[in-house]
Amino acid sequence: MSDWTLDYDGFEPGQEALREALCTLGNGYFAWRGAAPESRADEVHYPGTYIAGCYNRLRTEIVGETIENESLVNVPNGLVLQWRIDDGDWVRLADVDILEYRQQLMIKHGILKRSLRYCDPQGRLTRIEQQRLVSLDSPHLAILSTVIHAENWADTIEIRSALDGRVLNAGVARYKDLNKQHLRSVNSETLDPDSFALTVATTQSHIRIAQAVRTRLWRGDTRITPAPDIERRDGYIAHRYHLELDPERALRIDKLIALYTSRDHAISETGLEARKAVSVDQDYDELAARHITLWKQLWQRFDVDILHDDPRVESRTKQVLRLHILHLLQTTSPHVMDLDVGVPARGLHGEAYRGHIFWDELFVFPLFNLRMPEITRALLRYRHRRLGEARAAARRAGYQGAMYPWQSGSNGREESQHLHLNPKSGNWIPDNSHLQRHINAAIAYNVWQYYQVTCDVEFLSCYGAEMILEIARFWASLASYNDSLERYEIHAVMGPDEYHDAYPGSEQPGVNNNAYTNVMAAWVLLRALEMRDILPSQRFAELCQALNLASEELAHWEQVSRRMYIPFHDDGIISQFDGYDQLAAFDWEGYRRKYGDIQRLDRILEAEDDTPNRYQVSKQADVLMLFYLFSAEELGALFSRLGYPFEYETIPRNIDYYVQRTCHGSTLSRVVHAWVLARADRPGAWPLFMQALESDVADVQGGTTPEGIHCGAMAGTVDLVQRCFTGIETRGDVLWLNPRLPEGLKRLTLNIRYRQQILELWISPTALRISADPTTGQTIKLGIGTQIHRLRPGELREFQL
Ligand code: BGC
Repeated sequence: MSDWTLDYDGFEPGQEALREALCTLGNGYFAWRGAAPESRADEVHYPGTYIAGCYNRLRTEIVGETIENESLVNVPNGLVLQWRIDDGDWVRLADVDILEYRQQLMIKHGILKRSLRYCDPQGRLTRIEQQRLVSLDSPHLAILSTVIHAENWADTIEIRSALDGRVLNAGVARYKDLNKQHLRSVNSETLDPDSFALTVATTQSHIRIAQAVRTRLWRGDTRITPAPDIERRDGYIAHRYHLELDPERALRIDKLIALYTSRDHAISETGLEARKAVSVDQDYDELAARHITLWKQLWQRFDVDILHDDPRVESRTKQVLRLHILHLLQTTSPHVMDLDVGVPARGLHGEAYRGHIFWDELFVFPLFNLRMPEITRALLRYRHRRLGEARAAARRAGYQGAMYPWQSGSNGREESQHLHLNPKSGNWIPDNSHLQRHINAAIAYNVWQYYQVTCDVEFLSCYGAEMILEIARFWASLASYNDSLERYEIHAVMGPDEYHDAYPGSEQPGVNNNAYTNVMAAWVLLRALEMRDILPSQRFAELCQALNLASEELAHWEQVSRRMYIPFHDDGIISQFDGYDQLAAFDWEGYRRKYGDIQRLDRILEAEDDTPNRYQVSKQADVLMLFYLFSAEELGALFSRLGYPFEYETIPRNIDYYVQRTCHGSTLSRVVHAWVLARADRPGAWPLFMQALESDVADVQGGTTPEGIHCGAMAGTVDLVQRCFTGIETRGDVLWLNPRLPEGLKRLTLNIRYRQQILELWISPTALRISADPTTGQTIKLGIGTQIHRLRPGELREFQL
């Protein structure tokens, strides 16, 4: 065990699905779950291969309704490598006596190692060593290298190297009643004794997916070229090699896999490209060397280092933070710069939420903004390409501007499900989560943050401003004026807390005046108005003309941004929504006693024929999101512009109030709570940070990580170290730093990029040192305390805290 590896000793069937998710390898273009190469989908194993942006739609009849779901498709399994001795059964872990088993994810190198020693029922001792990678250097390639040692036997061994296209999307038990067959087979062919290929297509989106395999074998150091038997079935092709094996010389098998789809750039035909890619003479070591070099480069930009009083805490924290960075980079590596993709909430690691893209990007982008903003830029363009669909959605719903979907997939249609299954009760329940209109604020916020870090006016001119303006227009049209309040209101929405989707007993979905939504709407309107000053005047005029945006409309936005209604309880607490304080108090103690784990109170209560809508219970941070996204200074300015009092001391009171009412039913929740507690200097921040850190690696939700990692929580924990503990804010053309290291943390070092400068930060509880790389960028403004300093390239500054 080290800070740079994730190690598993022993084979534990009940843990296998979790390990598969956590040992996923990917390169932003595609990913392989960390499944055993000899396994197929069953109760223990779930091999899965997912290609970024490869979606397909299927219809299913559920409780008398036809529903259509779009899913990230599990594509043919190219990892398959099986063996059997003397015509016996193909070896399965379940059938042999496992003597040693070790799996190691090399976080630094993006390589998965596995070693296995077993005794079969015939008393034969066999040792297997495997290594695999999904190339960061050549995004269409992956390779698996296997060495088989016959320890005490000499016999015929048969190796089966296959491409299995008979796969389903069956990785999530809750979706078992939905159609799962996304692929139809197109063709398979054997190319030469080494190589074969398989092409399939998705059934509705008609994406062609071609894979080619090249299998090479060595006995000892000698390359051998046995003629294979060819096995072909619909959607399946394999080469089977018969060899003699003895203890003298081990057998090595390298399986190179190439993967192309009809969505790729610079291709003629998918099958042709896949065949061409495996015909190039490159072996495992060459591919690994280039792959490792590129990972090294990424770590130079993305690593974080800490020194903690307790060496065990230090080691675990570094290990898990690095694991998180690895998985984020595997989901959205620099290769996404050339793709049309967003960040699937659950990575390319499993099938939960069907590979959809949510507001979770809000938690992911800050990491990339400060390390490799080109990645954020590419991911924001995914949203811009779907602006037309968002406009159409707004119009259909009777609004103006652009209304982005809560869940997004291929073409930007709303992909939220209409019904979802409560696995606790077995009931299919109407799903109103599409009413989380706050996704639009998240997109505008992401554009704004990217701009603040990079000052990329060109991006704003071409894409970002148009999104902000159209989203602002949507908010202005959604807000209605209440004469008696003399304020604008937003009705019938859901906030981030998904446990409240209606008022108790109401047939009408949604709640009114969700504080988070209303504040964000006002904030977006302000940013939209600011475009007048930021964009070159000619470009702003062009946009106004193209969007038919007249000065009266801008004046209306100004008005809405000043007069948006924010609900408060009588005692000055910001109300999560109108009437939250009127809801019943919840029996936390009683439910904890009865159920133990009450994170999914929605399911527990529905199974009791009750609903969280009746209670003051929140799934996750909602009001507290405001303190997560904005500094006290920013919120103070926003509230005072809205004409509401905002005293600094209300922050801890709001935190205390909502902390007591939240059950952390989403992994995002602990990130936000740890953040706001840390910034408000309140105890509890570090334990919550540690819990957030363990979300996936320990599968704290008890079964969700096997279905895919939680990108938001993973990025959020890294960002806690990156921006929260350092107090980094990028606002008003200034890089603000206000470090506040949690107790026990003695040092924090990281590299960030800000407006083309490469900065190294070194922080202790009493000092901050910042040095700028000598060669790049222009002088930047640094805000420390209330002072603004200038930092030139090559300069080093030190500040006492
Ligand atoms: C959370 C959402 C989140 C989604 C996808 C849900 O459980 O409540 O806030 O966007 O998961 O991660």
